[in-house]
Amino acid sequence: MAKIKVGVFGVGNACSSFIQGLQLCKEHGEKVEGLMHWDLGGYTPLDIEIVAAFDIDKRKVGKDLSEAIFSPPNNMLKLCDVPKFDVIVEKGHLLDEFSPDIKELIKIDDSPPVDIVDSLKSKGAEILVNLVPSSAIETTKFYAEKAIEAGCGFINCVPVFIASDAEWAGKFEKAGLPVVGDDLESQAGSTILHRWILELLTLRSVKILETYALDVGGSPESIHALDWEKTMAKRMVKTEAVKSAVPYDVPVVAGSTDYVDFLGDFRDTLIWIKGTIFGGAPITIDLKIKVPDGANAVSPLMDAIRGVKIAMDRGISGALESVSAYAFKHPPKSVSPKTAENWMMEFIEGKKEK
Ligand SMILES: NC(=O)c1ccc[n+]([C@@H]2O[C@H](COP(=O)([O-])OP(=O)(O)OC[C@H]3O[C@@H](n4cnc5c(N)ncnc54)[C@H](O)[C@@H]3O)[C@@H](O)[C@H]2O)c1
Repeated sequence: MAKIKVGVFGVGNACSSFIQGLQLCKEHGEKVEGLMHWDLGGYTPLDIEIVAAFDIDKRKVGKDLSEAIFSPPNNMLKLCDVPKFDVIVEKGHLLDEFSPDIKELIKIDDSPPVDIVDSLKSKGAEILVNLVPSSAIETTKFYAEKAIEAGCGFINCVPVFIASDAEWAGKFEKAGLPVVGDDLESQAGSTILHRWILELLTLRSVKILETYALDVGGSPESIHALDWEKTMAKRMVKTEAVKSAVPYDVPVVAGSTDYVDFLGDFRDTLIWIKGTIFGGAPITIDLKIKVPDGANAVSPLMDAIRGVKIAMDRGISGALESVSAYAFKHPPKSVSPKTAENWMMEFIEGKKEK
């Protein structure tokens, strides 16, 4: 198969884990641990080639990607060494004002930003993955616009509404390009686990009364999440995703994060569910999940990239509801995890148009 030429915005923990994941796939082939799909529509992870990367932190800009992914403040769990890449991180565009906490964390490079479209075209990029922080709202919209100008498909892993916004989806449709998003759904993250448990309880006629999921983490993203005003969408996305698992209205609180530096890239989530079983007898569930965020992004992202490439091969444009529902928390159409998995497979097999 032809290579899938990918550009990334934001060389943080998720990007680093993803690139280490590609390296692990090279080393172990089909035997790599924990990958959701090796072959999707004829494409394997070995077909994914990173050709461009953009960041704004001076500890990353100008460095080879293999070095930049291990530069601070990245603190993801290291999965493997990565040999020299021959992709130099270029200076991206900063359109959002960061909070004082973030200004301490990110050391902004003072060189001028590059022309994103020129750079992408010269490198032959065809798909762009947006992995900037959740507080980078205007930056995300800017990069989505640049994807259209450069003729690239767009994967929005950030909780800013692009694929799920009709106006934005229409812009991609008009340009003949696919878009998926929004807000990547981790492989085994708190939102998908919370949804599965609620669906199972509902299936077993348990009446759900109240539920919450609260996070603490030590990654840079956990500091961004402290900026409540800018990351309100993140809380909304998680709350809506959890609410959609129960077929009646239930009080839900989800997506609140606090920062605990010594946790590193690990995220601890406490899920609490209160309900009743037969005869109104009470049930409460307390569940704690601990998992590193970066590694949790790798497998869904590899699948999303191949889904977008397949759409491009078939000349399909606009928001892909199958790939979005399968790999993102806030898709254009939200369905149960099982239906989303079925949609994805039907799309890959050509039985579902989008
Ligand atoms: N499991 C996961 O990791 C996961 C799951 C769901 C969603 N996400 C989303 O993915 C995104 C990335 O997560 P992360 O943990 O890698 O975050 P991170 O903070 O570690 O990385 C973000 C990177 O973007 C860079 N950046 C900031 N502004 C930029 C700009 N204007 N242009 C280019 N680069 C810029 C930062 O310097 C940093 O390197 C977040 O929005 C997060 O909500 C991640």
